[in-house]
Amino acid sequence: MSASEGTEYAVSSEFYDLLQAEPDRRRAQRWFAGAAGRARHGIVDFGAGTGIVTQVLLESSGVPVHAVEPAAAMRTVLMSRAAALGADRRARLTVHPGRAEDAGLDAVADLAVAANVVGCVEPAARRALLRAAARALAPGGVLLFDPPPVGLPDAAEDLTGFGPVRMGSDSYRADVTRVPDRGVLRMVFDYRVERAGRSVRGAREEFPMWPAEPEVLVEEITQAGLELVAAPHPDLLAARRPSR
Ligand SMILES: C[S@@+](CC[C@H](N)C(=O)[O-])C[C@H]1O[C@@H](n2cnc3c(N)ncnc32)[C@H](O)[C@@H]1O
Repeated sequence: MSASEGTEYAVSSEFYDLLQAEPDRRRAQRWFAGAAGRARHGIVDFGAGTGIVTQVLLESSGVPVHAVEPAAAMRTVLMSRAAALGADRRARLTVHPGRAEDAGLDAVADLAVAANVVGCVEPAARRALLRAAARALAPGGVLLFDPPPVGLPDAAEDLTGFGPVRMGSDSYRADVTRVPDRGVLRMVFDYRVERAGRSVRGAREEFPMWPAEPEVLVEEITQAGLELVAAPHPDLLAARRPSR
């Protein structure tokens, strides 16, 4: 399954903000708020999802923000978040409903971010995303992103999931398992809703992740016309469009 205009995130989008908005917002503040505050030209959020990161970028900066999001289910939540932002912030936000390379953004930004995205796209789309980022950045502009996993685990692993989060009479959680599968990491999200200790609903969605060796990634960054520079956070890589 590749993330595009199709049905991707059709299950997860319902639960995404309830389970992830708070931790993801704190992470976006740690990763991007400082750089966003220094942006003077514009910011691009590639793979904006439901807009958790986008909102932090808008709140931390005073420049135009472009949110690029191909999955209709995620974009629906993003649009609702944008509608609730208030006219001032909404005036600075442009939503692009396609993949990174479809947005046609050219030198619009001095900062681009991709949070939890680069590992979620297959290698050809990853290279296209890096090229789109290079094009979207003005000379001297920087792309910040968390890199894909370096390799695969030997066997399936249960990860720390999300929740439980209480809403009304119900308790929501997501159990997350990662399964190595023919060179790809299948991330399995099992959503569970319980009321008074009894299951009300369950739903599942899987996402592939594509590992990349660091030297492969560095080569792709260089091929895209970017150069690695020091990142502002240990979880991130930073790639700069060289100044003319
Ligand atoms: C795991 S979500 C992360 C969402 C958001 N960045 C966050 O941290 O909350 C990955 C997002 O990347 C989007 N995506 C996948 N392929 C993409 C591409 N080629 N260009 C732009 N976005 C893409 C997906 O549709 C999805 O919304």
